[in-house]
Amino acid sequence: MIAPASIQEVMSRADIIDIVGQFVRLKKRGASYIANCPFHQEKTPSFHVSPSKGIYKCFGCGKAGNVVTFVQEHEKLSYPDTIRWLADYYKIKLEETERSPEQQQQQLAEEGLRILNEYATTFFHDTLLNTEEGQTIGLSYFKQRGFRKDIIERFRLGYDPEGNDIFYRAAIQKGYNADLLEKAGLVKNRNGIHHDVYRGRVIFPIQSMTGRILGFGARILKSNEKAPKYINTPENELYVKSRVLYGMYQSRQAIGKQDECFLVEGYTDVISLHQGGVENVVSSSGTSLTEDQLRLISQLTRNLTILYDGDPAGVKAALRGLDMALSQSFNVQLVLLPEGEDPDSYIQKSGAARFHEYVKGHKQDIIGFRLEVGLRDAGTDPVRRSKLVNEIAESISRINKAEDFALQGHYIREASRKLDVEEAGLVNLVNKHIRERIEQEKRQQRKEDVLPEPALLSSEEPAFPDLRQQDNDEQEWELIRVLIEYGEKPYEGYTDVAILVQQRIDPDLIENMLARQVFDLYYNYKLKYNASPGLPYFMNYPEAVIQQQMISLLQAKNDMSPKWSENYGIQTLNGELNYINEVDSPLAYFEHKKIKSLQDELSKRFKEEKDPIKVDFLLKKYIDLKAAEKDILKKVNTVIVPLNSKK
Ligand code: UTP
Ligand code: MN
Repeated sequence: MIAPASIQEVMSRADIIDIVGQFVRLKKRGASYIANCPFHQEKTPSFHVSPSKGIYKCFGCGKAGNVVTFVQEHEKLSYPDTIRWLADYYKIKLEETERSPEQQQQQLAEEGLRILNEYATTFFHDTLLNTEEGQTIGLSYFKQRGFRKDIIERFRLGYDPEGNDIFYRAAIQKGYNADLLEKAGLVKNRNGIHHDVYRGRVIFPIQSMTGRILGFGARILKSNEKAPKYINTPENELYVKSRVLYGMYQSRQAIGKQDECFLVEGYTDVISLHQGGVENVVSSSGTSLTEDQLRLISQLTRNLTILYDGDPAGVKAALRGLDMALSQSFNVQLVLLPEGEDPDSYIQKSGAARFHEYVKGHKQDIIGFRLEVGLRDAGTDPVRRSKLVNEIAESISRINKAEDFALQGHYIREASRKLDVEEAGLVNLVNKHIRERIEQEKRQQRKEDVLPEPALLSSEEPAFPDLRQQDNDEQEWELIRVLIEYGEKPYEGYTDVAILVQQRIDPDLIENMLARQVFDLYYNYKLKYNASPGLPYFMNYPEAVIQQQMISLLQAKNDMSPKWSENYGIQTLNGELNYINEVDSPLAYFEHKKIKSLQDELSKRFKEEKDPIKVDFLLKKYIDLKAAEKDILKKVNTVIVPLNSKK
């Protein structure tokens, strides 16, 4: 256990800007800082950090807390480990209260891998630099590959001697136990005889974004052996391959600054590029990108440029996992290097200037790239070409986040030109794919949906609830919220949600002055810039009441979401999957309101009217309105009730 006084000390020293700044790119905005939230995918920053209050809050996903919860969440550590992490960062020596042997054992198991890996890294690195064998074999190999000393140090490269168990014996002597050594993948036990797994290999330690050693890649030196070229750490509590990107620690700042991340295949590519001054680069270590890896990158940038060998295997590897990147709003560019080159060889041969020039001249967006490869494969075969059109449309349909509409348009134009098909036809096809996905999501939702049947509309003249009294403000703000959040999303029969709202809702029905002001601001902006203002526009609007309202708006929404799943078993992903329903709710409210006011007007005229023909006409109108109201209420009952989670 850590002594309370120590925890106090850590808490008083830990600076939220300093710590959060280690993981995300903070921008100063007035008295606080903003960034893209590291806890959810986003393109415009809604993550706010207040140094004076010592707290952060994301207005997009609702995550909030202090410096400890940040590290805890971000690094997925337990509370005590978080305190240890912070203590380590600030070089504070923690006082630990007495621990039982069992606790010590458990502690050791938890932290053992991390400590052992750190030890091993130092051992291999020292061996490389300071022993004769290390220098003559390991170091001279790196030198021959053109790696400078400072780079070798920066990446903490190492060497494990050829003797069978030199590392093993050193580690045992230091008190590490054999089981842990095996678990860490450093040692193998064959019939009771332990030997070093990496013997005679050079070592590439793999670090987390914060510099912890998670595992290793160990490269063989002799080329004509049957043994694998690289041996990597097996999966264990610390090393989860799908969550690791080699070079992240050394590159994280440059990636943020350049606002671009290069992705390469190998360890040596990362190192050589760094040496050449290209420091915004990571490697997925020979596998296709995973969602977790993309998430890591997305904390720093959304611009991903993939550099691969120009051979067919490289092309194939480059294409894997990229639909995922597209649907996560990454701007993905591809660069195929000249045949026979990898980034390592290319930059060593040509230098940084020509490297940049080449990259610039050969950048291709992913859909363009897929088009080119696809067209080459399909040739003139009409069947294969139409299959390709469909595939490309599917890819384009994945770019359907509101803020990416311009990008989608760009791809559609480009694809229709290259595939020689009508743009309108392609748009239809893309929309079809979007609709299919929405339908699928809806079906999924319906399955989980346990909504009660509406009990309304049974009697002749049912007591309709007068929605004007019910949650008046709430519905008006709900309209504003869906407008801001989903304004640019597609809606059947309309260009998008913003147009739908504009055409169907009479702004004079918005009674709340502030809501009306925001509503007008929204459409003024749209008129002026031909784009919808996003949440940040309002969050940063120079009127405090508007900012405040936006914050409580998001708060309300976040409070609501858990109830959704609790009461109805509906999964909402920040409302994403459900946005049509979310839009329908305030829409129905306003339509009902409109009808009600028309009814009022009619009954007034009805009372005053003397002409029997006109009375007849008014009566008919009134009946029509009642029917319309019934329809609306049917809708209201299905969409508003769950939203307010009232029965
Ligand atoms: P490469 O064969 O391109 O290796 O594999 P490299 O990094 O360029 O190394 P050099 O330049 O030949 O020395 C790319 C990546 O695939 C993984 C490694 O992460 C490597 O960096 N890999 C490759 C393995 O994990 N095991 C292997 O046997 C081979
Ligand atoms: Mn290579």
